Amino acid sequence: MIRLPVKKLKKGMIIAQSIFNNHGGSFLVRGSAITGKYIRQLKKLGIPTVTVTSSDPRFHLMPPDDVVQEQTRIDAIRHVYDAFESVRLSGRLDSDVMQDVADHILIDLIDRPENLVQLTDIRLHDTYTFAHSVNVAILSAMLGLHCHYTKKDLQILTLGALLHDLGKVDVPAEILTKDQSLTTEEFDIIKQHPEDGARRIHAMDYRLPATSILAAIAREHHEHIDGSGYPRGVKSPRSSPSPTSTTRSRASAPTSAPTRRTSPTTS
Ligand SMILES: [Fe+2]
Repeated sequence: MIRLPVKKLKKGMIIAQSIFNNHGGSFLVRGSAITGKYIRQLKKLGIPTVTVTSSDPRFHLMPPDDVVQEQTRIDAIRHVYDAFESVRLSGRLDSDVMQDVADHILIDLIDRPENLVQLTDIRLHDTYTFAHSVNVAILSAMLGLHCHYTKKDLQILTLGALLHDLGKVDVPAEILTKDQSLTTEEFDIIKQHPEDGARRIHAMDYRLPATSILAAIAREHHEHIDGSGYPRGVKSPRSSPSPTSTTRSRASAPTSAPTRRTSPTTS
């Protein structure tokens, strides 16, 4: 697979990753051939690059299967968007729905461990945070599975990853969507989103499980191991404990997949 600037796309190339809007709808569906109309639409949307299966349009290679079902990814993006909007407007979110999203991701990963991860970190401003949050959740869950986290820890880790950028609801849209480089003052505002996310998660203590861990994930997701990150410049090993060192078992993989509650997908 190869990522190409939109101006280098040629008709007939096969799209390797779908591009989603905020509501989980697809602008482009993976596996479809690029047309002139698609190229014009990508330019109109301001999407700078697209991943294709081959740079030679004569080779109609199909993309590998994703680690999660497309519907799981689409629903997850939509529910993350809805959750961020709900927090922005009311300070609340539907924790059951978000836990179902985390569970669906874990169920898919456990069902399809051999597949490759498909990242869709398309830098389309309105979409980026939500698709990115779902990617981070999928990668975190894969890492947790690899480390033999317990089912409970996997659920907390995945939920925390889905919510890690929640503090962006407090960043003015004109800063989040700014095309040019940020000023120092604007970047200082961006740098507040980890603390803001942690604060908002703590405020939902009665709704979310393990809020101290979820808040730590939000607070520390821009910290770097050498202390050069933000907001606190925390150096390893001071970073927060991984999900529940008290409950983790390194000896065994999760013995059962999370159980689906009601489908979170279709409302
Ligand atoms: Fe962030």
